[in-house]
Amino acid sequence: MPTVLRLPDRRSDEESLWALVEAGAVEVEAEGEDLLGLFVGEPPTLPGARVEPALMFDQGDTWAASLRPFQVGPLRIAPLGQPGDLVLESGPAFGSGQHPSTRLVLDRLALRPPTGRVLDVGTGNGILALAALRLGAASAVGVDTDPAALPIAASNAARAGLSDRLELRADLPEQPFDLILVNIVADTVLDLAPALLTRLAPGGELCASGVSELRRAEVERGLRRLGLHVPGGEESGGWWRIDALASW
Ligand SMILES: C[S@@+](CC[C@H](N)C(=O)[O-])C[C@H]1O[C@@H](n2cnc3c(N)ncnc32)[C@H](O)[C@@H]1O
Repeated sequence: MPTVLRLPDRRSDEESLWALVEAGAVEVEAEGEDLLGLFVGEPPTLPGARVEPALMFDQGDTWAASLRPFQVGPLRIAPLGQPGDLVLESGPAFGSGQHPSTRLVLDRLALRPPTGRVLDVGTGNGILALAALRLGAASAVGVDTDPAALPIAASNAARAGLSDRLELRADLPEQPFDLILVNIVADTVLDLAPALLTRLAPGGELCASGVSELRRAEVERGLRRLGLHVPGGEESGGWWRIDALASW
């Protein structure tokens, strides 16, 4: 039975938003000044949160969308039990595909399909790495520090018949990549950026999503300072994907 966790007066609080996402909310929305997270199973305990029945669930807005199949370019991405080119379970891992920050990266993959080696940092259920492989990447490495994520990503890869092209691990590999995807919070993107740059192949691209409007300029500045060329990005629902190119 889906439930909603309501955090009163936290609309603009980025930390609360990510607390909901990291606690497993399949969708997060603002209602007035409140932040609401939708949970499919038992909701977690968060300070100051109220648990409510998911009355808005399946009313045609984005609340229920994460549980439905959706199209990204030629790919139909579907939850377990439904037909699709990529059928994904999420469990406690992040990656329903409907969060704007994930969709921004999926859209980029569909618009400019990768061909080489892809590194997906914060892979969650593997959605970005698996979509990259389906769309043409030669190989991918998915990294996640959450021990719950990797087995779910592995089972999604096996179901898709992509296990032989996806390596999953808890730490960053050493080899160079043509495309690095990172959909985590702004602070983590900035912390990881120097390490990611050493893994970016000549002519490669770092695609950083999960950056709120409030932090966009700061993240762009940080990436430029490291020597990347930042021609721009894309926005959706107050979230940004920043596209940064190797200048070497
Ligand atoms: C917002 S989710 C993104 C999941 C999926 N890639 C997507 O786009 O839907 C962020 C993921 O990053 C992982 N994560 C957080 N910090 C990390 C770090 N320093 N290194 C690797 N993974 C990290 C979290 O465990 C979580 O699975």
